[in-house]
Amino acid sequence: MVLETYSKVNLTLELLRRRADGYHDLATVFCATSLGDRIAIAEATELSITCDHPDVPDGPDNLVWKAVARLAEIAGIVPRVRIHIAKTVPPGGGLGGGSANAAGVLAALARRWRTDLEAWEMRSLAAGLGSDVAFFLEGGAALGTRRGEQLEPLPPPSGTRIVVLAPREPVSTGAVYGAVRGFRGDAGAASARVAAALRAGEVPDPAWLANDLEGPACRVHPSLAEDRAALDGLGLGDARLCGSGGSWYVLTSLHDGGAVRQRLLDAFAGRAVYLADPVNRGWRVVSED
Ligand code: C5P
Repeated sequence: MVLETYSKVNLTLELLRRRADGYHDLATVFCATSLGDRIAIAEATELSITCDHPDVPDGPDNLVWKAVARLAEIAGIVPRVRIHIAKTVPPGGGLGGGSANAAGVLAALARRWRTDLEAWEMRSLAAGLGSDVAFFLEGGAALGTRRGEQLEPLPPPSGTRIVVLAPREPVSTGAVYGAVRGFRGDAGAASARVAAALRAGEVPDPAWLANDLEGPACRVHPSLAEDRAALDGLGLGDARLCGSGGSWYVLTSLHDGGAVRQRLLDAFAGRAVYLADPVNRGWRVVSED
């Protein structure tokens, strides 16, 4: 079986408070994008996981391994599958590629193994693996609250494209959250506004997009502050950080996507720049064979 799993940008990411368990409550509007990875799953004698990207661990340290092991335990079976992940989504970029890999494999194997888990059980299993994993079970767009795992589905924006600048260096989500210094009094308002626009079938005004992790991420990685200054200098409108970074994205009209991608390629020599579209799912089966 071959799967395609997608990625996300956060149209908003607002920090509400630090919790007793060390996580942060937030309000975020996720938008799944077509930038995706390919995953091949084959019958085997035992579980193995490999990936073609040097920064992504093979074996038990891969989030996909944890997903498969947990699902197999719940289903009461021994997982006999060989999984290979062909990466396009840059790891450590805040694009949720690893979370999407885990969600796609989880959902596909739950179906193949006929686990009959309820949707809420799948969501809870996914949320236990990482804050963004539950989002990718359904993908599309959603308003996320609590750690980001409490989800209200929203229609994805149509009429916009997403240009993504790949990170210069991988970013640790935990380190960025660790550099958070405070919380805005009106945190949550931008997410409510963007969610309302999506519910009404409108493309949100790029000026409404917000990411409270930009300050902390730029403190941890000064190269991100350089990126931001360079992006501002291009006059393309606001660029926003993807999650905790280190990728940035710009929303463009359907017409301007290619030209904006070229501007970024010219301005950031040696960096990958992707042109993606919102998608109404988090993963899909490419081939059952
Ligand atoms: O859940 P996930 O493994 O993606 O989170 C990685 C780290 O990011 C957590 O260990 C935590 O430090 C931080 N985090 C947080 N609040 C969230 C999500 C993540 O503090 N809502």
